[in-house]
Amino acid sequence: MHDGSGRIVVQNLSKQFGTVNAVQNLSFTVEAGSVTGFLGPNGAGKTTTLRMLLGLVTPTAGSATINGRPHSQLGNPARVVGSVLENEGFHPGRTARNHLRVYAAAIGVPDARADEVLGLVGLGSAADRKAGGFSLGMRQRLALATALLGDPQVLVLDEPTNGLDPEGILWLRNFLRAYAREQHRTVLVSSHLLNEVEQLIDQVVIISQGVTRYNGSLDQLRKGQQSRVLVQPADSAALVKALQENGIQQVSPTPDGRVAVAGSSVQQIGDLAAKAGIAVYGMQEEHADLERMFFQLTQGQFAGAPGMPPQGPPPGYPPQPPYPQGPPPPGYPPQQQYPQGPPSGPQQQQYQQGPPQGWGGPQQ
Ligand SMILES: Nc1ncnc2c1ncn2[C@@H]1O[C@H](COP(=O)(O)OP(=O)(O)OP(=O)(O)O)[C@@H](O)[C@H]1O
Ligand SMILES: [Mg+2]
Repeated sequence: MHDGSGRIVVQNLSKQFGTVNAVQNLSFTVEAGSVTGFLGPNGAGKTTTLRMLLGLVTPTAGSATINGRPHSQLGNPARVVGSVLENEGFHPGRTARNHLRVYAAAIGVPDARADEVLGLVGLGSAADRKAGGFSLGMRQRLALATALLGDPQVLVLDEPTNGLDPEGILWLRNFLRAYAREQHRTVLVSSHLLNEVEQLIDQVVIISQGVTRYNGSLDQLRKGQQSRVLVQPADSAALVKALQENGIQQVSPTPDGRVAVAGSSVQQIGDLAAKAGIAVYGMQEEHADLERMFFQLTQGQFAGAPGMPPQGPPPGYPPQPPYPQGPPPPGYPPQQQYPQGPPSGPQQQQYQQGPPQGWGGPQQ
């Protein structure tokens, strides 16, 4: 029997397709009660990992378990894990309701569940329409409805925001958060775009080239971002010298004539500049954004970041030892990488509740 924890454990998982190392020694854990993002650039190995978790691909090495068991030992797996993988097909001539009834019969749930899940995903009024005529966003919702048929404890969704409009993404966010938090279920959502799922997720696993780069809370990742102050002094060289003489080492001139200072406050810099008799015409605090962080963690492979530097920190940002530029030891805990302390645990903040909104007209 499985342990009922809702926990996903990926341990030293590898998959080789011929000469391609799709996944290399990947380790992470996903707990119930929150939405976890599974992030990495195109080709990082996300879908392959999820397929191994769902028993669709055999690992070359390592293991992936749900509730302490590999997928093949879950009994009636549809009751434990529901999934939406990329390129899910529907019979185009079948109505949404009939599509769901076929699947309901296959996993042994009553027909009435088809209408329940259509209501849950906001497709109630499209129940009798043929899936072949559905838009991309509607197909995503129908795929989610299919995954929900068995009322699973664990939901695994591969790139679920593809094709959703902003309203659809908001709806998905509210739905998944409620699913994870109110019912203490596990939700794992993959994406190659951090900004598309940033509002959706609490925890994050970032992989690149098949290797784990970060596994921890999104809050902790945000806290790890180092802000900097851009100073416009009368004399850049003099300011750099004065700051360095006073122990502020993370200082560098920027191409536009300003001085970028990391690890110091506006007040500290202003006081030191005044003491050194250097006029300052302006100061601007700048926070490194999460997208840039993701880009750095994935070593510049992130295809969705136009204009980003190829590697390393932007000018004025010091090299960031907490963010590994090479593969971390397998299964490393985030607190070793992030000296700020352990992840902050389940978040308590409230989120909007109520019926799903968006496409689908009146909800059931
Ligand atoms: N069946 C297969 N045969 C050969 N190579 C494969 C197969 N499936 C995946 N790969 C390779 O494994 C690597 C990882 O692919 P995967 O689909 O897991 O990446 P992904 O992170 O899901 O990417 P994307 O963001 O584009 O969906 C890629 O180099 C891919 O070409
Ligand atoms: Mg994929």
